[in-house]
Amino acid sequence: MGAFRIIGGKRLSGTVKIHGAKNSVLPLISATVLLNGECVLHNCPDLSDVDAALGILNELGINYERKNETVRVFAFGPRNTEIPDRLMRKMRSSVMFLGSILGKKGRAVISRPGGCELGPRPIDIHINALSRLGARVREKNGKLEFTAENGLKGADIILDFPSVGATENIILAATAARGKTTVYNAAREPEIKDLTDFLNAAGADIKGGGTDTLIINGARELSLAEFTVMPDRIEAATYMAAAAITGGDITLLNVEPAHLTAVNNAFIESGCDIAVGSYSLSLSAPERLKAVKGIRSRVYPGFPTDAGPLIISALSTACGTSVFYEGIFENRYGFIDEIKRFNANITTHGPVAVIEGVKRLSAAPCVCTDLRGGAAVVIAALKAEGESRVGDIFHIERGYEDFASNLRLIGADITEV
Ligand code: EPZ
Repeated sequence: MGAFRIIGGKRLSGTVKIHGAKNSVLPLISATVLLNGECVLHNCPDLSDVDAALGILNELGINYERKNETVRVFAFGPRNTEIPDRLMRKMRSSVMFLGSILGKKGRAVISRPGGCELGPRPIDIHINALSRLGARVREKNGKLEFTAENGLKGADIILDFPSVGATENIILAATAARGKTTVYNAAREPEIKDLTDFLNAAGADIKGGGTDTLIINGARELSLAEFTVMPDRIEAATYMAAAAITGGDITLLNVEPAHLTAVNNAFIESGCDIAVGSYSLSLSAPERLKAVKGIRSRVYPGFPTDAGPLIISALSTACGTSVFYEGIFENRYGFIDEIKRFNANITTHGPVAVIEGVKRLSAAPCVCTDLRGGAAVVIAALKAEGESRVGDIFHIERGYEDFASNLRLIGADITEV
C-alpha cells in the first residue's frame, strides 16, 4: 500500500514546477475517442488516474504510446462501446467516456459508478442531459446501456446544477450530435475551457467554453495533431498550503495564476504574501498564519472544493478560529479524524468545519482517506513535530506526480517506505 515517513517542522522553501491538470487531461483523453487520426497530448501528468483513463482507451480498441509527459493517441475510433466494471470501479470519473463513446458509436455501456469517499456522487444530471440529446437509457444487472439508434440530435439543455463531469459529457456528446445544442447553467471550471479549446482546435464549433452558456454545433469530422494540457490548479494549491503551514516561501512555475484567484485570496487573508507572474506564482508565509473566517467552497470561480482539505489543514495551527463551509460534496471531511491524530482541534457540523488553531501539532501514524484528504494529512505531517507515518498513499498517487520528491526539493524530510 505504500507509506510516507515524514519528519515535520521543516520550513519549506524553493521552486516547484507544476504538472498538467489531472481534471483536464481525463476529459481530453475521452475526447480523443471523437477524433480521426493521431493526436499528441503534451504536459500529460504521470498519474494512476491517467493510466486508468488510457486503459479505457485500450479497452475501446484505441492504442496509445507514452513517453514521459507526452502521450500519442492513435485515435481511429473505438471498436468497442462498453467500459468494463473493473475499470469503472477504478475511477469514478470514467463516466466522462459516456459522451464521447455514445457520440461516436451511438451506443455506450457503463456500470453505475459507485459512490466514492466524497459521498454518493450520482449521475442523474448526466443521464437527463444525454436523454435530452436523444439517448435511451436501459439499466440491467448493474449496467447502464445508452443507445441512440439514429444518432444524437442537438437540443436545449438546462442543468439543475453546474456539474463539471456532466458539462464535459454533454460537450463530448453534442459535438458528435446533429444540429445545435445550447447548454444553460454549464460548469465554468477552467478544465471545461481546456476541453472546448481542444475540440475547437480539432474542428468543432463550440462557443462559450468557461462561461455558463455553451452553444455547440455538432457533427463534424474532427482531427487534431497535438495539444498541451493546462496546468493543475489544485496541485498548485497543495504546494501553497504546504509552504503556508511551515512558514515557508515557494515559487511555482507553469501555473495559470488567474485559475487560483479564490485560493490566493484565502492565503492572503491568512497572512501570506502572494506575487504572480505571467505563468508563475510566489507565496511567502508568516511564522504563524492568521485564522480565516468564512471560506466557502463553491463552483468556479469560487473557492474550489478540492482545495478545501488543503486549507483546513494549513489553518490547523493558525492563530484563532477558522470556519470552512463545504458547498459541493456531502462528505469531504473524511480526512479530519486523521488530522486530529496530530492534536489538531477541528470539529465538523454537517458541511461546516470549525478549526481552532493550535500552537503545535505532534507527529502520529495516520492514513490517507481520499486524494485531497490524503494531501491534507501530508500537509499536517509536514508541520507536526517528530516522525509521522502516512499510509495508503495510493490515494495520493491518483492525483500527484512526484509528490514526495517535489516536497524534498523544497526542504521537506519525507521518504517513501
Ligand atoms: C469534478 O468531479 C472533479 N473530478 C472533482 O475533482 C471536483 O471536486 C469536482 O468536479 C467539483 O469541482 C474530475 O474532474 C475528474 P460534479 P465531478 O459533477 O465531475 C453532484 C479531485 O479531487 N452531482 O461537479 O464528479 C455530485 O454528487 C476530484 O480531483 C449530482 O448530484 O463533480 C457532487 O455533490 C474530486 N448529479 C456535485 O454535484 C450528477 O449527475 C459536484 O459534482 C453529477 C454531480
